[in-house]
Amino acid sequence: MSTDLPAESLRCHRADAREVDGYRAALGENRASLLLTDPPYCLLTRRRKGGDERDPRAHKKIDRNPIVRFETVRDYRVFTEKWMTQAVAWLTPDAPLVIWTNLLGKEPITTVARELGYTHLRGEYVWGKRTTDKNANEQLLRVYEVALVFARTLAPVPGLGDPPVAWAVVSGYDDDGEAGRWGNHPHHKPFSVLEPLVRTYSRPGETVLDPFAGSGSTPASALRLGRRPACIEIEPEWAERVTRRLRETARARSYRERLLSPSAR
Ligand SMILES: C[S@@+](CC[C@H](N)C(=O)[O-])C[C@H]1O[C@@H](n2cnc3c(N)ncnc32)[C@H](O)[C@@H]1O
Repeated sequence: MSTDLPAESLRCHRADAREVDGYRAALGENRASLLLTDPPYCLLTRRRKGGDERDPRAHKKIDRNPIVRFETVRDYRVFTEKWMTQAVAWLTPDAPLVIWTNLLGKEPITTVARELGYTHLRGEYVWGKRTTDKNANEQLLRVYEVALVFARTLAPVPGLGDPPVAWAVVSGYDDDGEAGRWGNHPHHKPFSVLEPLVRTYSRPGETVLDPFAGSGSTPASALRLGRRPACIEIEPEWAERVTRRLRETARARSYRERLLSPSAR
């Protein structure tokens, strides 16, 4: 597939995933065939014993630093209801939802997905994040984030010649060096972690929606694999960075395509 996508597909829209405007700007008349996203995690506000916030200024700063905190798990559920209700309205009926979460967010996300008709939790994709350890004879894998896969229907019976569906991956935080190049987002996902999800749950040419783009790992992976990215991010600095990243990814892809095309040989 050629990567000559309209400029709109190579842009991250600065918007709030709980509101309609960003989806309209990113998708227009189009509908996405996959929701693959990494919303803020269910992290609760840090409080002193007396109940007041540890450092309200830090809290503000943290919010700008793409980490959002919630007072309670219930608040996280309300947040999830707001963004997920908007997002699913922009999907094709068969589109699966693949949603990253920390362990505390699993229950609220599953409850909301079920309420919206995504009654089948097809499974949980686990990222074993390689951590550095002093002991040279062993490596520790830390599981902090998992991606929950939901659909409206049961998974189809796999064909005998089909490749296996991946349910786990092992990688360090920045094995491909992309986090360092694009701002070291605290929740960056390397290409090797996202690739099996993009390949399994979408086809080339389809649109992949990510309303919480962060540093753009998901839309950039989708683009690299010949899908059309549609993305939103609330923080202007990150949204701009994602736009630059998408344009660079598209340039790298078309350069590679030109090199490999028969006429270039
Ligand atoms: C977990 S991070 C995503 C990280 C991303 N997967 C990456 O590889 O860089 C969640 C992102 O959602 C953004 N965000 C938080 N609230 C939002 C909202 N209401 N609408 C859109 N984006 C939001 C944050 O700024 C943050 O960058």
